[in-house]
Amino acid sequence: TDGPDRGVWRYREGLPFDLGVTLPEGDTPLHRVPRIEEAVGVDALRFKHEGMNPTGSFKDRGMTVGVRVAKELGVGALACASTGNTSAALAAYGGRGGMQTLVLLPEGKVAAGKIAQASLHGARILEVDGNFDACLDIVQELAARGEAYLLNSLNPFRLEGQKTIGFEILEEFYADYGVFPDRIVLPVGNAGNTSALYKGFRELVQSGALDPDEVPKLTGVQAEGAAPMVEAVEEGNDEIRRWEDVETRATAIRIGNPVNAPKALPGIRNTGGTAVAVSDPEITAAQRHLASEGVGVEPASAASLAGLKKLRREGVVDDDERVVCLTTGHLLKDPDAAYEAGGDPEPVPNDADAVVDHLHD
Ligand code: F0G
Repeated sequence: TDGPDRGVWRYREGLPFDLGVTLPEGDTPLHRVPRIEEAVGVDALRFKHEGMNPTGSFKDRGMTVGVRVAKELGVGALACASTGNTSAALAAYGGRGGMQTLVLLPEGKVAAGKIAQASLHGARILEVDGNFDACLDIVQELAARGEAYLLNSLNPFRLEGQKTIGFEILEEFYADYGVFPDRIVLPVGNAGNTSALYKGFRELVQSGALDPDEVPKLTGVQAEGAAPMVEAVEEGNDEIRRWEDVETRATAIRIGNPVNAPKALPGIRNTGGTAVAVSDPEITAAQRHLASEGVGVEPASAASLAGLKKLRREGVVDDDERVVCLTTGHLLKDPDAAYEAGGDPEPVPNDADAVVDHLHD
């Protein structure tokens, strides 16, 4: 099933190659969650669950293309800075491509599942005494000195693969509704996805496949403790002010210097979208809400629903809108956050009577 008619490579006409280093990736579900749709109060709500990719996040869509390009260039070593998911995907796809992988992670701020993946897939893992932005500064320097080929979302080929998220959303939503969604709500870290979706939609408009007024409003969500994009959108700035101190339990988006902002800000503005910041308790509540309906996502992914709820409360999103939220990573990526949000198991004696008593206490 590595053929070109599945997932990301089904869109090969819009990609730089016909085939990639594939596991395969894409073809993720577009979940209908009627009770959440009802609670949020919009005409239609869908969740594009990118946590269902091979390594559990949307990064796989970028890596299948990026690692293919690296192969074409004949490089032997790949590197990235990461809040976790990119490192897991790089390790898996690099391994599959027969290349060495090096990842730089912010010490103490990467969820357990992600480090486990990077480790087992064979990456050399460096823990940096600094945040993600510092890791990205260093790895760019390593790439400039020829130590490795950079596969962060600064690499434009990564974003080529991630464009296909937007293509799948439009196709699947249209098949259901006969129209395209009005809005796509997505978590923002480095703003790679926001840039990728905007590029993909622009290409569809240029090719005549999509009317300019049919492009969904790109709506970014950040955590309050790491919201430089929201600041730039609210203040109407063309540039990002780098936040040196960032904090959120959604560690995947614990980023103070979104390097793709120059491409993502026009995407948000020109589509009529916006950006909003949500608190950690709002993120946890949204994560629980999705989980109660069977959709397991990591905290950063739940930010999309938390942001949509906030924009509904503020009246920015209308009740007649058709919305797709992007959930970017799987629940199992961050088991500690899941325990914290879900509650601990209850210890009971090895005895049926005692268990019944416990249940009725
Ligand atoms: N959601 C998850 C689960 C992520 O892992 C990331 C980014 C984002 C959202 C933000 O996406 O950067 O395109 O705006 N994770 C990167 C990493 C930084 O290293 O795994 P973005």
